[in-house]
Amino acid sequence: MAEKISIIVPTFHEAENLPHLLQRISAALDSSKIVWEVIVVDDDSQDETIQVCESLAQSHPLTLIVRTEERGLASAVVTGMKAAHSDYLLCMDADLSHPPEAIPAMIESFSDGKTDFVIGSRYVEGGSTDDDWGVFRWLNSIIATGLVKPLTSAKDPMAGFFALRRSDFQAAYETLDPVGYKIGLELIVKCNCQKVAEVPIHFSDRQFGESKLSFKEQLNYLRHLTKLYDFKWPEATRFVRFGMVGFSGVFINLAALAVLLEFSMLAPVAMAVAIWIAMSWNFLLNREVTFHDRTTTNIGSEYVRFCMASLTGAALNWSVATLLWTTVPMFADSPTIAGLVGIVAGMFANFTLCRRFVFFE
Ligand code: GDD
Repeated sequence: MAEKISIIVPTFHEAENLPHLLQRISAALDSSKIVWEVIVVDDDSQDETIQVCESLAQSHPLTLIVRTEERGLASAVVTGMKAAHSDYLLCMDADLSHPPEAIPAMIESFSDGKTDFVIGSRYVEGGSTDDDWGVFRWLNSIIATGLVKPLTSAKDPMAGFFALRRSDFQAAYETLDPVGYKIGLELIVKCNCQKVAEVPIHFSDRQFGESKLSFKEQLNYLRHLTKLYDFKWPEATRFVRFGMVGFSGVFINLAALAVLLEFSMLAPVAMAVAIWIAMSWNFLLNREVTFHDRTTTNIGSEYVRFCMASLTGAALNWSVATLLWTTVPMFADSPTIAGLVGIVAGMFANFTLCRRFVFFE
């Protein structure tokens, strides 16, 4: 039976590339069993992209969607997928980085009935990139891929060349909230894709035009990752944020103490004030970063409850550390380890109290 696919191509200033892309897609698929259409989603390019598409549509199954209100690669892909009607959705760049010749093998991967996502991959055996990737781009790609490891076992999850079933896309559509470039990753996570297949490809550097992958997009990527972690493990991510805020509080505490001592404040008073400053810092940061989805307008009451939770955590920290150090032989010579255990216990208690009694749902 012929497979039907919609090929979604996001574009911004790709007039030079599109004729070559359509010619190669046509050559790769016309002799196969695949029935195809191309949906170009353009963000109102000011080169000849729109005119070129209109001309190509005379001889190819090509639909052009021009967006004037929204911007961005990921949301352009979602727009194209929403407009598609085929059983399979495939996404690829316009710039000939992704070889259309790999499409039949990618679609064939679904035939085992278990695969729910297929990537045209640079990082599996047989895959490659052009040699002139600079050290910076390599490093960038390796770090970006490393950060994503807990979310998926795919070797090339950052790829913009991928395919999935339209039914999976539709099931997850309401949850999609992509930021920036990595729409494939967004779909793997939100569609809960369990079996990801990877077909090796050679990723070529673009021949015409410029990449739009800016520093801003890299920051967007980090924002996107945070959202995906939040989606997949909301409470674990909250705990990590809570820990990071607490860690920053240690530096605020020390800095405040140094300043107060510099102003000749008595040490015990300076310590108490520094602790209070760090606690207030932690409160404000946790409100913004850790519990931003649970805050109320009654900030005063939240603050009092937060201070009580922090003091309870500190008391537990002190009790556990002291108890271990004074009563458990293995800690007798290592008060620092006992102190560390106390910190972890205090932090868990503080976090739990914050979730239950300070910033509760
Ligand atoms: N509609 C729309 N809007 N399309 C866009 C936009 C935008 O704001 N920005 C980029 N595009 C289109 C480009 O015209 C191209 O077809 C495709 O998206 C990829 O953009 P590039 O700017 O060429 O991306 P790249 O080559 O730097 O990044 C490539 O590598 C990444 C992995 O390293 C792409 O393949 C990415 O998809 C991939 O994630």
